[in-house]
Amino acid sequence: MGFAKWVNLLMVFHFFAATPIFSHSSSFTSKFLDLAKEPEIFDWMVDIRRKIHENPELGYEEFETSKLIRSELTKLSIPYKYPVAVTGVVGFIGTGSSPFVALRADMDALPIQELVEWEHKSKVAGKMHACGHDAHVAMLLGAAKILIAHEKEIPGTVVLVFQPGEEGLGGAKKIIDSGALENVSAIFGLHVDPTLPIGEVSSRSGPLFAGSGFFEAIISGKGGHAAMPQYSIDPIVAASNVVLSLQHLISRESDPLDSKVLTVAKFGGGDALNVIPDSITIGGTFRAFSRENMMHLKQRIKQVVIGQASVYRCNATVNFLDEEIPYMPPTFNNDELHELFQSVAVNLFGVNKVSSSELVMASEDFASYQEAIPGYMFLLGIRNISVKSLAIPHNPHFTVDEDALPYGAAIHASLASNYLLKLHQNLPLVEEKYNDEL
Ligand SMILES: *[C@@H]1O[C@H](CO)[C@@H](O)[C@H](O)[C@H]1NC(C)=O
Ligand SMILES: *[C@@H]1O[C@H](CO)[C@@H](O)[C@H](O)[C@H]1NC(C)=O
Ligand SMILES: *[C@@H]1O[C@H](CO)[C@@H](O)[C@H](O)[C@H]1NC(C)=O
Ligand SMILES: [Zn+2]
Ligand SMILES: [Zn+2]
Repeated sequence: MGFAKWVNLLMVFHFFAATPIFSHSSSFTSKFLDLAKEPEIFDWMVDIRRKIHENPELGYEEFETSKLIRSELTKLSIPYKYPVAVTGVVGFIGTGSSPFVALRADMDALPIQELVEWEHKSKVAGKMHACGHDAHVAMLLGAAKILIAHEKEIPGTVVLVFQPGEEGLGGAKKIIDSGALENVSAIFGLHVDPTLPIGEVSSRSGPLFAGSGFFEAIISGKGGHAAMPQYSIDPIVAASNVVLSLQHLISRESDPLDSKVLTVAKFGGGDALNVIPDSITIGGTFRAFSRENMMHLKQRIKQVVIGQASVYRCNATVNFLDEEIPYMPPTFNNDELHELFQSVAVNLFGVNKVSSSELVMASEDFASYQEAIPGYMFLLGIRNISVKSLAIPHNPHFTVDEDALPYGAAIHASLASNYLLKLHQNLPLVEEKYNDEL
């Protein structure tokens, strides 16, 4: 009892002692949203986003996008490292020394033909920014422009990560492997979300996006005349049973409360109506919310494909395509960073603008940063409720309402500066804990 009181007293003292510096610092970050809405930043972000949208580049080919980013950083007198991971750019704002906090934007487009008719439609046939990465880049540059104006107040360094190849290409892992983030103690990233209204954000602590893996299997038998199956070893019947057996990995072997997916999305082979083919190729993807579950599924997929094929006298090989489509771990949000995010987002946008995300079975290669350093990924609303546009990412009709850009820029800038200020003042990332004690 007495001990608890003593602790409370210390807390009270610490809280008040820290108040003047803290309120000074939080007041400058609370202006970030207004700043980001000023034409000087807003129009500039819109312009950058449109330029990138018109010239979409696929993963590791983001040469013009990267050049545009570098030229804007140069104009803002922000030093950067280039190239990092082929086309990546890593910029620095602040003291240049520890502590370091990173903000990430991905730069790549998708091999999709844009079907939205507007003035700044993609000028490259068959390529489109259909995942909003053009907006991600513009918002991170917006944050840079806000932060550079307050550089003297930042007690540490904000590291701006413009990453290539997010769309299944392992760009985040390449950035980590380059060593560019070796002294960074936390990283934040956002993704636009057309189901959330503009001005709102959502996220959760722990798992957010699933991990993803891919596989392809060749099931080989012996081809022959379709009328005389006894002289063949039929890979079609074998592969069909493989597909059915794979379904049981989720429905019969997995905890129903721990979500996983296994989809066979490809089934190919045979091209005549009277010929049994030599082999069948099947392939698909598997998703889960922990590395353990991913590894377990991977091992069982291999066993089931080979074992079930052998029941039908076929041989099978399974390839997990580690080179072509790197395995993506699940995103896992750090709990302390979640608390910081909650308080920053509530301060900036209002308490009813911050919600809790559902788990998403899609994957995000931000997860690769989180395997190396504490990281936090959240979703930013881009839905304009007065406009009926709900195309989801990776859809040729996908649009981004540019009015969302200031919110992304402001929260990026605010997360980074609040993180560094908290570290600097030796405060825990969560100030609510003090209020509870008080
Ligand atoms: C990280 O810190 C160490 C020690 O201060 C330094 O030698 C190294 O260059 C830093 N790495 C990066 C990428 O800044
Ligand atoms: C399977 O592999 C074994 C060993 O290599 C081989 O002897 C057999 O002919 C193969 N069977 C089929 C159906 O390809
Ligand atoms: C939604 O779109 C309308 C029409 O383009 C625009 O006037 C309005 O500002 C937008 N709303 C938000 C919240 O951005
Ligand atoms: Zn995408
Ligand atoms: Zn994306």
